[in-house]
Amino acid sequence: MLVFITKDYAELSREAARIVARAIRRKRDLRLGLATGETQLGLYRELVRIHREEGLDFARVVTFNLDEYVGLDAGQPQSFRAFMFTNFFDHVNVPVGQIHIPNGALRKDFEKTCEEYERAIQDAGGIDLQVLGIGKDGHIGFNEPASSFASRTRLKTLTAQTIEDNRRNFPPDKETPRAAITMGIGTILEAQRILLLGSGAAKARAIALAIEGPLTASVTASALQLHRDSTLLVDREAAAELRHKDYYDSALEMTRKLTPERLW
Ligand code: GLP
Repeated sequence: MLVFITKDYAELSREAARIVARAIRRKRDLRLGLATGETQLGLYRELVRIHREEGLDFARVVTFNLDEYVGLDAGQPQSFRAFMFTNFFDHVNVPVGQIHIPNGALRKDFEKTCEEYERAIQDAGGIDLQVLGIGKDGHIGFNEPASSFASRTRLKTLTAQTIEDNRRNFPPDKETPRAAITMGIGTILEAQRILLLGSGAAKARAIALAIEGPLTASVTASALQLHRDSTLLVDREAAAELRHKDYYDSALEMTRKLTPERLW
């Protein structure tokens, strides 16, 4: 794992966008895994800027979102689909036919939809670069505690903490979804490269457990310890509980000198 500690959220967003933009420039038909959540907003803003000002071309990029709430209609503003269009897809040139987001509007046939999502990823040739956020309990996607490291795309019940964290995005009179469809840990680990973003003091514990804690299904981000090419971009606040911060800084310095391509 490459742990990249940035001074603040703005730098984290710029670095994340630089890595994604670079990956697209090297492989125009990049299969890009995307995430939702507030942490991703800076990345999306920056990618939109690079698209407008530097002509970053998404015409051949194929995207796969990590997850979607169950029970919301696609058009509902709180759906992850709506989030993705409002904050990103409406402002860049990814053709709509190349955008994949799990269908959460379902009330049944979850298994079939999840299998189809897995097949779409396989048919596209797998994911080249998967971007992730992290939940307060250390989840990635919606892989809540006790998610198997071998899990695939499936229906998942949300924890009380996650439901509470997401309540802020819903009007007070609306019920917050209690379930979601999410790529599994096994699905995520198959991506060629992983880029996790963690920002703010509220994520410090989860980040420390993910990077320095034991491998455990109780903190599903710890599964990234098994991946051979993951970069964890965290700002100073989110890095606050890491024990080996100085080492990560010097390893990053050395990487810049000796193998800068790892930072692309
Ligand atoms: C939800 C999403 C995760 C995301 C997390 C953190 O749980 N399913 O993919 O990482 O929220 O969101 P935020 O960045 O808003 O803290």
